[in-house]
Amino acid sequence: MTTRADRLRVGVIGLGVGEQHIAGYRSRAACDVTMLCDLSDDKVTMAREKYPHTHVTQRPEDVLDNPDIDVVSIASYDDGHHEQAVRALRNGKHVFVEKPLCLHEHEAREIRMLLSANPRLRLSSNLILRMCPRFRLLRQMIRNGDFGRLFYLEGDYNYGRLHKLTQGWRGRLPFYSVTYGGGVHMVDLLLWLADAPVTEVAAQGNRVASAGSGFRYNDFAVALLRFEGGVIGKVAANFGCVCPHFHRLTVYGTEATFENGPESGLLYRSREAAVAPERITAAYPGVQKGDLIGSFVDSILKGEPAEVTTEHVFRAMSVCFAIEKAVQASAPVAVEYL
Ligand SMILES: NC(=O)c1ccc[n+]([C@@H]2O[C@H](COP(=O)([O-])OP(=O)(O)OC[C@H]3O[C@@H](n4cnc5c(N)ncnc54)[C@H](O)[C@@H]3O)[C@@H](O)[C@H]2O)c1
Repeated sequence: MTTRADRLRVGVIGLGVGEQHIAGYRSRAACDVTMLCDLSDDKVTMAREKYPHTHVTQRPEDVLDNPDIDVVSIASYDDGHHEQAVRALRNGKHVFVEKPLCLHEHEAREIRMLLSANPRLRLSSNLILRMCPRFRLLRQMIRNGDFGRLFYLEGDYNYGRLHKLTQGWRGRLPFYSVTYGGGVHMVDLLLWLADAPVTEVAAQGNRVASAGSGFRYNDFAVALLRFEGGVIGKVAANFGCVCPHFHRLTVYGTEATFENGPESGLLYRSREAAVAPERITAAYPGVQKGDLIGSFVDSILKGEPAEVTTEHVFRAMSVCFAIEKAVQASAPVAVEYL
């Protein structure tokens, strides 16, 4: 591979949310998005018109095997991530991969092994809620001690788009997990806010909301998480909810409680009903899906830690794998960190 230390040549695979990856790389002067790939004829036609100075292909291997590509951004369907990440890493490329990193624990182990064998390579994943201004402020307040000691965090990924399971590609995959596909965002958020690993999970799931649709997997899963140090968390991946897309987040500490709302967050500093909560008006969600790309690029070019490091990706996925196992077993499962 011909690597230039000061510039990165990028290939993006999958042009749905992948288009937002393109925007993320384009916001960095050191990046040239030189190749785009999508299986669909329509997307290829669109890409040729919209991005005339890139090479557009329908064959992922043209990107993954190209010695003139330094970074591969993977935004294909969930079941394409593992194979594409492995091939890119084997070919010495840095990888930014949409969540979920992969769909099976053995796949994650293989990716881990390839990264260990080549520590120069960077891998990150689009766990984008960390870039939400309101959640960043919340984290800063937790760090500043405003919440006292945390004891309970609750995060519901209310998807509000059931049709994407019942009519879209998610329902056509050989395997789909709402925990990997959506819950992972809340798992990462809670890990990031609590700043402690999860040691054990208990979980249940069902498929009431999508019953009769032909969707074969749970459309709902909820997990209780025990964090090291005693904090308890609850994460739900709720794909059937009748409400708009929303990240329900509540954080309880000994000195304050935060509750996210669509317009503003509420910060309670008193148990008295007469004391009104403060309104936290920092933007929510307030992010574009390419907003993590800049820090990923800096992690490659400047050696700085990315906002979402490889460790963070594996940590969140390890908890998600444990949740999926706990749902299947209907029994608590210890988290095994990959
Ligand atoms: N981080 C986030 O918040 C976020 C948001 C949306 C989607 N995603 C993830 O991004 C991925 C794509 O989702 P989407 O919403 O963009 O879907 P989409 O259907 O809008 O777009 C996906 C595109 O990828 C193409 N594609 C699929 N498999 C391919 C392959 N093997 N090689 C090349 N192209 C392929 C499809 O033709 C399609 O055009 C999924 O893994 C999803 O979970 C993440």
